[in-house]
Amino acid sequence: MNDPIFYKNNIPFFYPKSQFEITHDIYEHFDLSVKDQIKLHLSDQLWSGYPFQKILDFIENAIHPFNDFHILEIGCGVGRMASSIAFKFPHSSIWGVDYSFQMLNQARKSFIEGRSLNLSFENEGLGIIQHKSSALSNLKFGLTTAENLPFDNESQDFVYSSFTLDRLKNPLKGIDEMSRVLKKDGKLAIISPLNFIEKQHWIELYPTNKLIALLEQNGHQIIEYKDNFIVEQPFDRRGNKKIWNCVAIICVKED
Ligand SMILES: C[S@@+](CC[C@H](N)C(=O)[O-])C[C@H]1O[C@@H](n2cnc3c(N)ncnc32)[C@H](O)[C@@H]1O
Repeated sequence: MNDPIFYKNNIPFFYPKSQFEITHDIYEHFDLSVKDQIKLHLSDQLWSGYPFQKILDFIENAIHPFNDFHILEIGCGVGRMASSIAFKFPHSSIWGVDYSFQMLNQARKSFIEGRSLNLSFENEGLGIIQHKSSALSNLKFGLTTAENLPFDNESQDFVYSSFTLDRLKNPLKGIDEMSRVLKKDGKLAIISPLNFIEKQHWIELYPTNKLIALLEQNGHQIIEYKDNFIVEQPFDRRGNKKIWNCVAIICVKED
């Protein structure tokens, strides 16, 4: 694995994100993005459960429970899924990587330091959340781009990514990198609403048979594929919500 270039708040940076890049990255904006991710991923008490539990179940069901796996999440955001997996699979070691320092800083506070979170969602008619976390010794977070992962070739047993593929500047390179770091017989799980941000990405990866073909060209055999995998993102007290129509794919890297 590459050495970090520098650390900020104990978070290793494997990519030297510039001030210009930080200023222009919506995911660095606390009120617009990080708070939204906290509301979705760390506020179960507001929703009587974890809204993305269906995704977490889909991922966890693909992980062998007794192995000491190397597991990697791409685009881990505030760290909820990586921390749940680290908790459930204590013999495995988990890395969560993301391009947003602010997301990772929240992830670090909650799941590396085990700090409680106290945040108001009263503007949305909701209450104050008090998320209690615990520090997990088998979990690490780092800043990088999905398109340039700091991990060695064939070093990971399980790689997964939720709601991130369609956010990447270069999703094809992201898929190449996920394939590169995965061991032979390792599994890759991708859950995405395929809500691409650039015309070129729609051309390259939509409809879903293009994504499937690309994964197969990268040496993967699809073992599970669900289209119309619906997840809901609630956002206020009235019950307004976004409904996301995702694909959920699990594939195995062949020889
Ligand atoms: C919509 S959020 C998804 C977070 C979480 N995985 C989920 O399921 O809700 C997208 C995440 O991808 C990250 N991201 C965007 N571009 C990235 C890139 N090139 N490399 C790594 N992460 C990236 C963002 O910082 C953000 O945390």
